[in-house]
Amino acid sequence: MTSNTPILKAQAIQKSFDGNTILNGVDVVLEKGEIIVLIGPSGGGKSTLLQCINCLVIPDDGQIELEQQPIDFSNKQDLYRLRQQVGMIFQEFNLFDHLTALDNITIALRKVKKLDRNTAEKRARLELEQVGLGEKGDLYPAQLSGGQKQRVAIARALAMDPKILLLDEPTSALDPDLIGEVISVIKNLAAKGMTMIMATHQISLISTLADHILFMENGQIVESGTPKELLAKGNVNKTQGFCDRLNELATGEQ
Ligand SMILES: Nc1ncnc2c1ncn2[C@@H]1O[C@H](COP(=O)(O)OP(=O)(O)OP(=O)(O)O)[C@@H](O)[C@H]1O
Ligand SMILES: [Mg+2]
Repeated sequence: MTSNTPILKAQAIQKSFDGNTILNGVDVVLEKGEIIVLIGPSGGGKSTLLQCINCLVIPDDGQIELEQQPIDFSNKQDLYRLRQQVGMIFQEFNLFDHLTALDNITIALRKVKKLDRNTAEKRARLELEQVGLGEKGDLYPAQLSGGQKQRVAIARALAMDPKILLLDEPTSALDPDLIGEVISVIKNLAAKGMTMIMATHQISLISTLADHILFMENGQIVESGTPKELLAKGNVNKTQGFCDRLNELATGEQ
């Protein structure tokens, strides 16, 4: 359910690497409670866009507003505010290998949120329970499956109380039999009303979770609409073609 209040607006985002234009005037408007799904061919700019949205990569041009407040890309306080409120989940989990699952979560709570050890651990255990890993807090990433690592990464992001979660192909590094557990955690988040932008090739996430689909190609959004609009029977468009191919792949794998 969305509330019509834009929580985040990215406008005319422009980014080049080594003289190559990667994002060429991208606009994203995200409402509170909304789920936007980014799809499109490899190299189209999805990951770069997600990284620009929380300024892990600073856009060359364009504007970002969080809750109607513009972000000044050269102002450290603004970047801090943005990154505090916009959590990120990566394809490769990005956990610290030398820390237990629990400490992967407590470290930011203690260093950034300045919680004491007990309070941080309590919160971390709660988040681990939420993703079905209540018993795994003392294990190191090497002792966890890919699906479990990704769920720790999700718990870590949620512990920071983000207003928005960005997910960059959260299931694509996982073996097929581990994808389901991460999908179910993401569906739980959606059911709780979490605001998200997610790049994914998982057809079940695209068709059941998206309020809005953005199809990116060559650094631009070339199609945009609700799944109902874009995936109506008989439609011929890029989104439809892309999802048909994903469906064929999914059926072929069974
Ligand atoms: N740090 C970087 N330096 C140079 N080029 C980069 C950098 N990051 C991304 N690119 C280039 O930007 C283009 C878009 O990459 P991006 O990862 O955003 O695409 P994508 O849509 O996420 O692709 P995929 O579906 O494969 O994940 C690619 O051509 C990539 O090589
Ligand atoms: Mg990518």
